[in-house]
Amino acid sequence: MTVAVRSFAKINLGLYISAARADGYHHLRTVYQTIALHDVIRVSVGRGRGIEIVCKDPRVPLDSSNTCYRIAERVLAELGAQSQVRIEIEKRLPVQGGLGGASSNAVATMIALELALRKTRTLKKKLSGATRLRIAAEVGSDLPLFLVGGTALGVGRGEEVYPLPDLPPMAIVVVTPEVGVSTPKAFADWDALDRLTGAGASDRLFEVGCTLSAWLTHSNNSGYPNTGASAKGGSRAEKLLLDLVRTGIENDFERVVFPQYPELRDIKGALERAGSRYASLSGSGSTLYGLFRSRAVAAKAASRLRKQGVKAVATSTLRRQKYWKTSLVVSR
Ligand code: C5P
Repeated sequence: MTVAVRSFAKINLGLYISAARADGYHHLRTVYQTIALHDVIRVSVGRGRGIEIVCKDPRVPLDSSNTCYRIAERVLAELGAQSQVRIEIEKRLPVQGGLGGASSNAVATMIALELALRKTRTLKKKLSGATRLRIAAEVGSDLPLFLVGGTALGVGRGEEVYPLPDLPPMAIVVVTPEVGVSTPKAFADWDALDRLTGAGASDRLFEVGCTLSAWLTHSNNSGYPNTGASAKGGSRAEKLLLDLVRTGIENDFERVVFPQYPELRDIKGALERAGSRYASLSGSGSTLYGLFRSRAVAAKAASRLRKQGVKAVATSTLRRQKYWKTSLVVSR
C-alpha cells in the first residue's frame, strides 16, 4: 500500500530571535506562510519491520538522522503498529534552504504513513491532533507549522503555532542559491553577535515600512485578525502578532548570514530592483524570496533574474484550505 503526499515549503514573513534560552534554544516570533513549491513523499507499508529511506539526492541522509525516519519511528510506536515502511523522498526543494523542506517532509511522512496503515486496515487507533503536534515538535521546531498550513504565527522555539487568517494569495519569486546554511550554526552566530552588540535585546524596535501589518490589517475588515485562529489560541495569537508587527518584519538571520554570504545580500537587492514589494531571507537561508504585485510581474522578474544567472522561480503563497483540501494528497 503506497500513499503519496505533496510536501509543501514555507517562507518566514519576518523572524525575530531573542537571546538564547536556558535550554540553548531561542525564543522566536515569526509568521510562517506555506507556498506552492513542494517535494513529493511516497510512503509504502508492508509485512515485516524496519524503516527504509530512498532518495536520489546525495545530500539527503538515508539513516535514522533523517527527519522522516525519526517521525515514522514515533508514529509506529504511538500507534502500536508493526510494519515495514519505505519512504521515498522526491526532492525538488533545496536542502538546508530555509524553506522547511526536511520538516515538511517529516510531516508529510506522518500523514502518509497513517493513511497507508489505515488502508491496510491494520490500524485500530488514530493519532489525535494534539498527539500529531507533540510528535512533530519532538522531531523539530519547524514541523508543527506544516500541521496548520496557510498563514500561521510561530512562537516559543517556533514549534508553538497559531493559525492566522490567511493573507491574500501573493505572487512570489523564490531564489535558491547553491549554498546551504546550517541553522544551528546561524543561531550560534546570532549568539556571538548578541554578546557583542546586545542585538537580541527584547526592546529593539524596528520601523514598520512596507510591512506585514499593512497586509494583515487590510486582509479583513476587522482590524487585527482573529477569524482563522482557534478559539483557544485566538487572543494570545493576536497579542503576539501585535508584538511582532510592532517590531517590524525583519529577518534577524540576515544580520549574521549576509556578512558571511555577501552574494545573498546582492540577491535581495536584485529582487528589490526587479520590483518586489518586500524581499527577505527565508529562515536561516540560503533561500530568498520577494513578494510581488501580480503573477505577471513575478514571472517577468524571475525570468530577468534567471538571465542574470540567478536560480529564480515564480510561484505563489498557499492558503490553508488549498494546502489541505486541494493539494496535499497526490494519490492513495
Ligand atoms: O528544533 P530543530 O531540531 O529544528 O533545531 C535545530 C537546531 O537549531 C537546534 O539544535 C538549535 O541549535 C537551533 N535552534 C535554536 N532555537 C530555535 C530553534 C532551533 O537555537 N528556536
